[in-house]
Amino acid sequence: MKAVVLHAHGGNEQFVLDTHYPDPTPEPGDVVLRVRACTLNYHDIFTRNGMPGIKVPLPLVIGIDLAGEVVATGSEVRDFTVGDRVVVDPIDRVKGGLMGEAFDGGFAEYVRVPAHMLVKINDELSFAAAAAIPCAYGTAYRMMMTRGRIQPGETVFVLGASGGVGSCCVQLAKAAGATVIAAASSQEKLDRLTALGADVGINYAGGDWVKECQARFGRARVGPRDQGGVDVVVNFTGGDTWTKSLRLLRKDGRILTCGATAGYDPKEDLRVIWTFELNIIGSNGWGREDVEALLAMVRAGKLTPEVHQERFPLERAAEAMAALESRAFFGKIVIEP
Ligand SMILES: NC(=O)c1ccc[n+]([C@@H]2O[C@H](COP(=O)([O-])OP(=O)(O)OC[C@H]3O[C@@H](n4cnc5c(N)ncnc54)[C@H](OP(=O)(O)O)[C@@H]3O)[C@@H](O)[C@H]2O)c1
Repeated sequence: MKAVVLHAHGGNEQFVLDTHYPDPTPEPGDVVLRVRACTLNYHDIFTRNGMPGIKVPLPLVIGIDLAGEVVATGSEVRDFTVGDRVVVDPIDRVKGGLMGEAFDGGFAEYVRVPAHMLVKINDELSFAAAAAIPCAYGTAYRMMMTRGRIQPGETVFVLGASGGVGSCCVQLAKAAGATVIAAASSQEKLDRLTALGADVGINYAGGDWVKECQARFGRARVGPRDQGGVDVVVNFTGGDTWTKSLRLLRKDGRILTCGATAGYDPKEDLRVIWTFELNIIGSNGWGREDVEALLAMVRAGKLTPEVHQERFPLERAAEAMAALESRAFFGKIVIEP
């Protein structure tokens, strides 16, 4: 079969299209899927680069989020049959490990998956939309709902709102009844975020986004005049955005984080944290129940998986990764093998 194989850590030149990669065969508890759509996550860039503390078994087929059809089943598989349409929950909750990082993922025509990682999808949901959900949307769901407990009437500021996790955060905050401030790097992305439900858009390319947010939602103050600031900031960007975003929050506000695209060891300003009694809330990964809840929201018309317009075949996987890295996309980038 065809697969895009990462042979060594480095740049996109390390991806090689292999037209004779071994066809996967199922062990007793596995199925083989024909991959119909695989969506990119920023985590794929970390896997490609190599991350301290995470050993990636190279060569590896990357690709965390995927959906497809069952084409073969192992002897012990009872709940799935050939032809079933499924999405993969990419954490192996029995043996451990993340698909596309610890074992082969979706940059291929076919993939072997333990049956316990599959969730059936209905005919109305496209493979691309289904493949947008587990990692990015699952993480957003846990961060916003379980950990962040977004409430109706709150003001929620989302940095990096145009990407996979961000575009889901915007929709979840809106669905929870919050006023949503979406921040992104271009007017085009902000227009799409407004269409998704954002109430206010702030362009952080070039402008002073802290001042702009404070001008609209007030500046946090302690004491009798204390009124300003937003209730929640969602920041998975880190780097030099971290201390700036603390200054957007009202007294007792919450900052939610699940990642650090621009740097995991930012400068800190403890004075702001204690003075305004801020709450820093971490969130990691998702549960199967989060994937199920998101699929139910999509079925009910309460959430739309946002996929980037241009689709990439396997042959252009490196180009798709370059689009992700250069931020030239909206929502989730889809590879269709
Ligand atoms: N802990 C977990 O379980 C977990 C799970 C999923 C994701 N994450 C983390 O969450 C973060 C977002 O993931 P994602 O897949 O949603 O990423 P993504 O689709 O690439 O979106 C990230 C967005 O952040 C903005 N951005 C701001 N500064 C950036 C920078 N220096 N480099 C790249 N983008 C920048 C970009 O939008 P603009 O161009 O508009 O600025 C981009 O669209 C990543 O750090 C990822 O590792 C963590």
